[in-house]
Amino acid sequence: MQYSLIWDIPTRLFHWLLVAGLLVQYVTAEWLDDAMQWHFYAGYFLFGLIIFRCFWGLVGPKYARFSSFVTGPVQVWRYSRQILNRHSKPYAGHNPLGGWVVVFMLVIVAAQAISGLFMSDDIFMQGPWYHVVSVDTQELMNFVHHQAFNLLLGFIALHIVAIAFYTVYKRQSLAPAMVHGKKTTVAAPISSSKWVLAITLALVSAALTYYVVAIAPGAPPQEVYY
Ligand code: HEM
Ligand code: HEM
Repeated sequence: MQYSLIWDIPTRLFHWLLVAGLLVQYVTAEWLDDAMQWHFYAGYFLFGLIIFRCFWGLVGPKYARFSSFVTGPVQVWRYSRQILNRHSKPYAGHNPLGGWVVVFMLVIVAAQAISGLFMSDDIFMQGPWYHVVSVDTQELMNFVHHQAFNLLLGFIALHIVAIAFYTVYKRQSLAPAMVHGKKTTVAAPISSSKWVLAITLALVSAALTYYVVAIAPGAPPQEVYY
């Protein structure tokens, strides 16, 4: 057993920026009255963050890669059968079941950010793609935006209960590693956080977000009052 670097810095930054961003979205939509502009900006930021995580899942360090934690049904079943075993083998990265929870959370946040682009607050603010689509599509996106958040809240609750379960029942403390990146494990550590690659991909994600939000949909039609 050694104390090894498992979670690279970009993955950890991604995680805590995601948590902060979702908190901002909740507060600006549900609690504050005049904060829709900030809800839009933070929504664009989360959109870019998800694009970054998709790239990172393909080319990031070992444990951040989708290929290291997205497994088939047989592995998920085998893992699930021994989940109550206190002495089961701890995973360095995400376990087969947790890996799928991660994928679902990312998909729901993506659905939330994408549907937001088609939303209107029915007063002053319209998402950049609102004017491009039919009323039916606007209504569908409105439905997705409201329902997906409830689903996301369910997954967040499951995520936090699972971490508490591992800490208390299985005596595997997972949370500190999402802060400092290290775990006591027999698994091979990662050798670096691939900073240059991460910064390049963050810039590419920001450029793609700018294109989707500000260029591709075009300007909304001017309203004419007689
Ligand atoms: C809004 C709330 C949260 C959301 C949406 C969320 C989402 C996620 C996601 C997407 C991942 C996968 C990270 C990646 O591979 O990129 C993850 C992993 C993780 N999160 Fe969270 N998280 C939330 C809150 C928390 C909190 C409050 C804690 C600490 C108590 C926490 C601890 C962890 C840990 C330890 C992992 C790694 C799990 C493992 O070892 O497999 N998360 N979370
Ligand atoms: C991951 C990103 C996002 C999250 C988590 C999120 C979350 C939320 C939540 C929780 C609500 C309140 C829903 C309800 O009352 O049932 C909401 C409403 C709304 N969101 Fe988002 N949102 C995101 C992205 C966006 C984006 C990118 C836009 C626009 C560009 C947007 C525009 C709106 C609008 C217009 C409303 C309706 C406000 C109203 O009812 O007056 N959202 N969002």
